[in-house]
Amino acid sequence: MKGFYLALEGGEGAGKTTVAALLQEVLEKRGERVTLVREPGGTELGDAIRLLVLHSVDMTPWAEAMLFAAQRAQLVNEAVRPALERGEIVISDRSLYSSLAYQVGGRGLPYQDVWQANLLAVGGLIPDLVVVLGVDPEVGRSRQEVPDRIGREHDQFQRRVAETYRQLGAADPERVTVVPAGDDPEAVAKEIADLIDAKRRGHD
Ligand code: TYD
Repeated sequence: MKGFYLALEGGEGAGKTTVAALLQEVLEKRGERVTLVREPGGTELGDAIRLLVLHSVDMTPWAEAMLFAAQRAQLVNEAVRPALERGEIVISDRSLYSSLAYQVGGRGLPYQDVWQANLLAVGGLIPDLVVVLGVDPEVGRSRQEVPDRIGREHDQFQRRVAETYRQLGAADPERVTVVPAGDDPEAVAKEIADLIDAKRRGHD
């Protein structure tokens, strides 16, 4: 495929959404066409699932995992794949790597099962690069305004999420990079834009 699929990941309050918007600006100034999406959401179905999974009743870990996978199936098919086919850079605020961190690391579901379910959901389309914004879970949580159902999970859960991101980076360093979130989101955005450039040049 012609475009480039970037996923921004991280625990609660890592500043992904701010960095995503800044990164879009930096890339557009460099002459790139960019599509910005977020999970859960980004489609009509995805927004409905977002309400269900983040702001409604409790559910079993598999029900949660499947709802995240379902909104992802819709988003990848409706927005991500077409943008990549047009040659654009897709910045995705979260991706199937969130399901590995939260539903596998946090909830304890088996890695292979969650990975396979998500691969089926997205037809095998996975991000070219995954940038994890590293932030201390306590600091991140204190930055959150109104935590959702998953953001309210206890500290140990959030620490397991952070540790799983670290392990995902160690297991696949070519694809998954941890970048310290720091206090300067603009610098982080530039750093990520440079990582995308380097990775694309590597593909040529
Ligand atoms: P969001 O409003 O996007 O918050 P954040 O600023 O933390 O990104 O909420 C997403 C929440 O859903 C967050 O707590 C992480 C969780 N989540 C999962 O547990 N699994 C997933 O696959 C995704 C996409 C999100």
